[in-house]
Amino acid sequence: MSKEGPVKIKFYCGENIPLELHKVRIVQKLNLVPIERRLEALYEGGFNTFRLSTRDVFLDMLTDSGTNAMSDMQLSAMMHADDAYAGSQSFFRLHTAVKEVLKKEYLLPVHQGRAAENILAKAYIKKKGDLIPMNYHFTTALAHITQYGGRIVELLYDEAYNIQSSHPFKGNLNVEKLEEVIKETGVENIPFIRMEASTNLIGGQPFSIANMRAVRAIADKYGIRIVLDASLLGENAYLVIQREPEFRDASMAEVIGIMTGLSDIVYFSARKLSSSRGGGICTSDLKIYRELESLVPLFEGFLTYGGISVREIESMAVGLYETLDETMISQSPDFIAYLVNTLMANGVPMVTPPGVLGAHVNAMQVCSHIPQTQYPAGSLAAAFFLVSGVRGMERGSISNQRDEEGNETYADMELLRLAVPRRVFTLSQIKYVADRMIWLNENRHLIGGLRFIYEPAVLRFFMGGLEPVSDWPQKLIAKFKEDFGDSL
Ligand code: F0G
Repeated sequence: MSKEGPVKIKFYCGENIPLELHKVRIVQKLNLVPIERRLEALYEGGFNTFRLSTRDVFLDMLTDSGTNAMSDMQLSAMMHADDAYAGSQSFFRLHTAVKEVLKKEYLLPVHQGRAAENILAKAYIKKKGDLIPMNYHFTTALAHITQYGGRIVELLYDEAYNIQSSHPFKGNLNVEKLEEVIKETGVENIPFIRMEASTNLIGGQPFSIANMRAVRAIADKYGIRIVLDASLLGENAYLVIQREPEFRDASMAEVIGIMTGLSDIVYFSARKLSSSRGGGICTSDLKIYRELESLVPLFEGFLTYGGISVREIESMAVGLYETLDETMISQSPDFIAYLVNTLMANGVPMVTPPGVLGAHVNAMQVCSHIPQTQYPAGSLAAAFFLVSGVRGMERGSISNQRDEEGNETYADMELLRLAVPRRVFTLSQIKYVADRMIWLNENRHLIGGLRFIYEPAVLRFFMGGLEPVSDWPQKLIAKFKEDFGDSL
């Protein structure tokens, strides 16, 4: 195995900080509005950070989805896009990138990741009660599976639920349990096994290649297909190189090729993988391609654009190749590690080891005085926006869906995710985030709970509205003023 990187730069003096290997050429002005306006914005947005207007947001750490910085090469590629309903050259360039980077023969383009989930669930969940074993669910994947009558079972090892851990691969799928589940459920009731690269909802935690090989062996033994959610594939591969000794000297291309090679179907959100828009379903199995082919024109668009603009298809193609560049993929995980380590050193409980996509604050611990019925992670997300203008995302019980009887299902973990999109923030901005979070943690007793005033039936966390259960936001502002004076 050989590779050109990784680029390790040691500092002679001072702290070892992550060093950017890119330069900023286009910038967007930001505003930090006063805390009184931030409170108004929370009331207007139902204390739900999804419903804030970016006019009121200083650092947008809601997600990395569609917000990673694009490269000059991606933007310039968009200029030579080939507008055609069918047979566009832009599609063929993307198809070549899929063959070369993801090592899959066939590509079905879709408008984003959840569209792939819709097509896979529609094609393969044939009867009520069909079971999809997975390392962990993602919100949209679960919603599509249950919409077609399917069920899921989450098969992580116990260590994954240990929020502060040093286990390098908390996203590993529990292979012993997998075999038990297959025997109990029957192969005929398991359409596929889903592996999520860099398991999002438990804090962006990767799985190892050794684990995936073990899952493959069981899948082969029982003749079940593996579907890989590759939305955070590059980051998972980067952490394999960092943490799995066998791959210490491997290249991104090699690790990515092994991961996709162990999967029958690879799907992804190109809003994450490749930093553009769109998504795709890839396979090297013609039978699978034929099973899915007709659903793309039905739900997405013709097979050479799949609901994506041709310009974005061009940037997707370039973005896939750039995923092989360790200096690009490492930027976000390295900044996340810096943020997590700084916060931990100052007493803020975080998900460890640092994962990908974002830094995850353990809201269950910060807000241990708030019962899960009052949504500690949602409360922390609102409180943090109030004191910083930084928008994070609730990843706890509000993001869960009710069960079939309409009962709340409380999340295993109540997390506030502070996403660090690739190459978007500077280190001083990350330091500001740490500073405000340390202050909030020290004043955590002032944070109170939330209750729903508008609860949509599906994916309620997106547009739901909540209100504080008391006047805690006003009390938090009073303390902020005491400590920060007239600072924004
Ligand atoms: N799978 C994973 C692992 C994801 O993280 C996402 C999106 C999807 C599928 C769905 O893709 O948004 O293109 O339809 N995650 C975003 C997030 C929304 O903020 O974590 P999509």
